[in-house]
Amino acid sequence: MAREKTIIIGNWKMNYNVQEASLYLHKLAEAVKVRRDVEVILAPTTLTLQSLSMQVNRRQFKLAAQNLYWRDHGAYTGEVSARQLNGIADYALIGHSERRHIFHETDKDIRYKVQAAIRNRIRPVLLIGETSYERASGETEAVLQDQLVGGLLNLTSEELESVIVAYEPVWAIGTGVNAMPDDVSRAIKSIRNHIKHLYGRKAAEDTPVLYGGSVKADSASDYLKLDEVDGLVLGGASIDFHAFTEIVKKAHRARTQEDDE
Ligand code: PGA
Repeated sequence: MAREKTIIIGNWKMNYNVQEASLYLHKLAEAVKVRRDVEVILAPTTLTLQSLSMQVNRRQFKLAAQNLYWRDHGAYTGEVSARQLNGIADYALIGHSERRHIFHETDKDIRYKVQAAIRNRIRPVLLIGETSYERASGETEAVLQDQLVGGLLNLTSEELESVIVAYEPVWAIGTGVNAMPDDVSRAIKSIRNHIKHLYGRKAAEDTPVLYGGSVKADSASDYLKLDEVDGLVLGGASIDFHAFTEIVKKAHRARTQEDDE
């Protein structure tokens, strides 16, 4: 990994109320050291983002929204816009498979959300990945290409600079089924290839690409040591204090071992 920082994102999903989230952040803040080579991003529910944003030390943790709405304001009952999140969230997860599959978000919704995030100075983390059916039908690469093109369409090269891509095979999310590191390498290479076709070699090299899907403390290093992987997205492991702090340590250790080589 040649990049300046390894990125570790903890997606808390729909867990923790305001008090619980605050306590958990407090515990993490005592245990996780600030490292110049690891960027730790916490993605709590929208409800708790604001209070955590006042509690968090941004040198230690950045905050991500798990979702946002692409219109800046207006009559959209129940939604929260990127404009409202500006100054509170540094990043936003966009296109998570749970959003695509449970809430039926389309590539068009996702593209508008990516654009809204950038317009409001929030870095989008575009999540893409194939279902087990698509994988079994040999469509992984085509699906990744479609979701990538669908999410990034019309972005300028300059706008692309703020985008992070995460490869999350749907069949590996929350299932305990690990993707094989070789498959992850292959998928991320193909993601970079598509970015190269769209934006050129430099953009392909510069765009951070993360892996996510049932990563636990004992499997994290298998992915962190892959050249193609710039970091991890953690769901279950991010709300497990010991697993999360261990994985952040491993991310730092993987970097220092790399520096020694
Ligand atoms: P998981 O979730 O680690 O629980 O599989 C990953 C994600 O949803 O991003």
